[in-house]
Amino acid sequence: MNNKLFSSKIIGIGKGLPETVIKNSDLEKIVDTNDEWISTRSGIKQRRVVKAEETGTGLAVKASHDALGLAGVNPEEIDLIICATSMPDNLYPSTACEIQKELKCVNAAAFDITAACSGLVYGLNVAKSFIASGIYKNILLASVDVHSRFINWEDRSTCVLFGDGAGAMVVTRSEEEGILYVDMEADGSRGEELKIPLSGKNCPLVAQNTLKDSYVYMNGREIYKFAVNTVPVSIKKAVDKVGVSLEEVDCFILHQANARIIESIADRLKVSREKFFINLHKYGNTSAASIVIAMTEAVEEGFIKSPSLLVLSGFGAGLTWGTAVVRWNP
Ligand code: ACO
Repeated sequence: MNNKLFSSKIIGIGKGLPETVIKNSDLEKIVDTNDEWISTRSGIKQRRVVKAEETGTGLAVKASHDALGLAGVNPEEIDLIICATSMPDNLYPSTACEIQKELKCVNAAAFDITAACSGLVYGLNVAKSFIASGIYKNILLASVDVHSRFINWEDRSTCVLFGDGAGAMVVTRSEEEGILYVDMEADGSRGEELKIPLSGKNCPLVAQNTLKDSYVYMNGREIYKFAVNTVPVSIKKAVDKVGVSLEEVDCFILHQANARIIESIADRLKVSREKFFINLHKYGNTSAASIVIAMTEAVEEGFIKSPSLLVLSGFGAGLTWGTAVVRWNP
């Protein structure tokens, strides 16, 4: 039996963002808040949201189209589409199937995964594993979340934090190992701290309907503590597994939830804040999409050069968290 494991690397990335911008000053018109509070507590200045006729799928298709273009891979060469999303347009068909249809990836299997803001890192591990086993060669990993449809726009503690967006990566079999290690963890016992409960009618023959709103419920302080305590451990574990030091990492791309969280993680790791790319002031927290959107812009702006050693780290509902150590050399 051939036990050879195949190496994989990321060869294309892309982003998809809605055009509509909501500034902090716009939110002052609908809830009791102000730019100073939002900026100092989170670093967010504005976010993008979809209009009624726009969909998360549309954003993911745009990101995927760009990632395929950068990779130089044709849609029919894609063997598998994975979409990380916690807010699909439909419970079924999956967003991955919708992307398959729109981009005509006619040879691809397709499914979604749900790991909230850790979805991109979880998806990368799934992609790496499918390639390592020899089952697939080219995988499109999309990530999209449309929080604006699940926000209580009267709740100032959550409506100021989130935005809509999508990202995508093409991961392919390669001679050199580009996805060096992925750490992936969860603690389901703390799921209540960050939740979007799903509304749904019970069968009237067996139960009274007790519908709740499908809104974001968040224990902000606990999530903050969870992130700043857990993510540094995950990052340290991942770089130790690869056998590199934190100093050797060229750039850290963390889930863009809150600038204070990212700065605190940098300080706890004793790594210069300068190495942590931040673009959440423009987009807010775009959940599963934030790492790829940030990585795409970091490459476009020359913040990430090729080749570079990157740390990608996600954390969020589940609770879930994870870190990937990646060599960017597309
Ligand atoms: N504008 C003005 N005042 C506000 C607002 C607002 N938008 N929201 C809350 N406040 C008030 C509160 O009512 C409270 O007032 P009080 O003292 O009179 O009771 C005061 O501000 C302080 O509220 P806290 O919640 O204690 O503020 P905190 O300093 O903890 O900051 C924040 C809140 C920014 C949410 C912080 O806890 C945080 O960043 N948590 C992590 C959130 C996060 O990252 N979530 C997503 C991660 S996972 C995922 O991405 C799905």
